[in-house]
This record gives sequence, C-alpha cells and structure tokens, in this order.
Amino acid sequence: MTILVVGGAGYIGSVTVEQLIAAGKTVVVLDNLSRGHRRAVVPEAQFVHGDMADKNLVMQILREYDCSAVMHFSALSLVGESMEKPLDYYNNNVKNSMTLVESMLECDVQQIIFSSSAAVYGEPESVPILETHPTRPTNPYGRTKLIFEQFLEDCDCAYGLKYVSLRYFNASGATDRLGEDHHPETHLIPLVLQVAAGQQPCIKVFGDDYPTADGSCIRDYIHVRDLADAHLLALDRLERTKQSSTYNLGNGNGFSVLEVIRIAEQVTGKKISTTISSRRPGDPAVLVASAKRISEELGWKPGFPALPEIIENAWKWLLAHPRGYK
Ligand SMILES: NC(=O)c1ccc[n+]([C@@H]2O[C@H](COP(=O)([O-])OP(=O)(O)OC[C@H]3O[C@@H](n4cnc5c(N)ncnc54)[C@H](O)[C@@H]3O)[C@@H](O)[C@H]2O)c1
Repeated sequence: MTILVVGGAGYIGSVTVEQLIAAGKTVVVLDNLSRGHRRAVVPEAQFVHGDMADKNLVMQILREYDCSAVMHFSALSLVGESMEKPLDYYNNNVKNSMTLVESMLECDVQQIIFSSSAAVYGEPESVPILETHPTRPTNPYGRTKLIFEQFLEDCDCAYGLKYVSLRYFNASGATDRLGEDHHPETHLIPLVLQVAAGQQPCIKVFGDDYPTADGSCIRDYIHVRDLADAHLLALDRLERTKQSSTYNLGNGNGFSVLEVIRIAEQVTGKKISTTISSRRPGDPAVLVASAKRISEELGWKPGFPALPEIIENAWKWLLAHPRGYK
C-alpha cells in the first residue's frame, strides 16, 4: 500500500516523505510546484507534477499506486497574503482540498492526515493552548484551515472518512538533506539566519512592548523532524483504530523573538542587526501549545526540543544551500 503525499515538495511535506521512506513506506508525491521544489522530493519517492484540484489525475494516482491514505500539506499559508487574496485561499485551501477528498471517497481511500494550524485558535484566552480552546481565527488563512477541519468532521459522520488534523505551531529546523526555502520567506528563524549569512541587512522585530519579559512576542518552535514523526504516529493510529482526532503539535516551550535572535547569534557566531518596528495587527503576545493530548494518546514527544539545536540544523542547511533549492 502506498501513501499519497500532496504538497510533498514543500518544506514540511518533503521532510515527512523522507521519514516515511526511512520507515519503509512506499510514497507518491503530488505537487503543483507553485510553492515547492522538485529537488526537495527524495529520489526514493515517486513524483507526479499536478494539482490536487485535478480529480481525474488524483483518482488515477490513487488507483494506480493502490493508495491507502493521503497526507495533505498542500495549502497556501501566508497570513498577510490571505488577507489580500482571500479568494485564492478559499479556492485552494477549501475548494481544491474538498475536491481532493471527493477523489479519495470515489476511490474508497478513507484515511487522511491534514496539516492544520495554530491559526485556527486566534487570540488565545489561555496558554498553553489546549485543543479544547475556542477556535476563533483572526484571518482568512486560519478560517480556511478551520473550515476544512470541520468539513473532514462532516465527512467522517456522513461517509466514514477517518482523519487526523494536526495543528502545527511554528515549524523550524532542517534535516541533513532538506530545509526551509519559502518565497517570500516570512518565518522568523530562516529570516534571522539570512541576516547572519549576510543575505539580508537586518531583522525587523514587530513590537517590543508586549506584556512579556523582554517585550517581544513569544512563539512555540517545533522541529520539522518532530512534525514528520507525528505524521507517522498519526498514520499508525488511523490504520489501527480507524478513529478520527485532532492534535496540537508544538514544543510546549515558548521563546521570544529577541531570545531567538540571541540564540541565533550564539549558534552562528555572527552579529544579527535588529530594528524594532510597530506591532503587526492580530499578532498575539504569546502562542504556546499544549501537546499533552498527542503525547498521551500517541506517545509523541519532541525529539529535538532545544532551540539551539533547531537553529543549528537550520543554519547548517543554509550554509550548505545558500541559494535554497536553486
Ligand atoms: N510552516 C509552518 O510553520 C506551518 C505552521 C502551521 C501549519 N502549516 C501548514 O503545513 C502545510 C505545509 O506547510 P509548509 O511550510 O511545508 O508549506 P509549503 O508552501 O512549503 O508547502 C506546500 C506545498 O503544497 C504545494 N501545493 C499548494 N497547493 C497545491 C495544489 N493545489 N496542488 C498540489 N500541490 C499544491 C506547494 O507547491 C508546496 O510544495 C501547509 O498546509 C501549512 O498551512 C505550516
């Protein structure tokens, strides 16, 4: 049986494919390469260039490769862009994603693991955030993730589709072969490292007047390898129990923006120029996950919880790939 990984040429998908292969699974990747990189797909996986909205193609892949489950990483995921282009976000993250599920149901493929996001919660009422926390996303990106989660729930009730929704906090780090190469890059750790590498002049810190110890925002950084591990555990649970579920995926530890910069200076041995600018609307002071549910139910725990190690892995990858996958 084969696992279809949609969006497997992207950052988190590619690392998950690498780990699925290492675990002895057969993998086929479908990616339209709108945001991903052909070179990020390890050669041991099959690759099909195409879109999840192409129902005939998806059904052909599911049948030809005898797929038993789908992993869905294929979203647009820039919060700012989602506010400027909500149509693109609803089209891809909701409509095209629904077409993917329709193809699965027609081929009797009944298991899906979905990359959801901490963005479904919005402004937290309490931290660490539990899965039972109210979901009130504050931007179109977060709303598309929540709508698709709810759609999966409805498909479970109506058609018996089994899903695991994984609500990631901030993915970070790299493996020896694979790392983060987004265009534009909006994530803090790669941006800070680009400054250390002399590729960018300075890093902007959005707000230093939050009610945190140093005034900058606190976020939860989870190693991409730990995210990938959670997918393998989720797949195993789906296969064994045929039960749907939703889990947070975070480190459970928060680090402030200024702490990330300080640790990156220590890891790289470079001075990182910083400018302070005003807060961005909708940026909560603290976003930290409780990963208690996934650790209790699936036995998941982060293997790489230390931020210096996460940053060191990302730095090594950047030094080895100064132009990303180009
Ligand atoms: N990176 C993070 O910190 C983070 C945090 C929370 C949630 N997520 C979610 O995790 C998933 C993966 O994130 P990422 O950082 O690896 O993103 P990414 O942009 O690197 O990867 C997404 C991949 O999906 C592909 N894709 C998009 N639309 C497609 C379509 N219609 N058909 C086929 N392929 C398509 C892109 O080409 C890309 O390769 C996304 O769903 C994202 O919303 C990411």
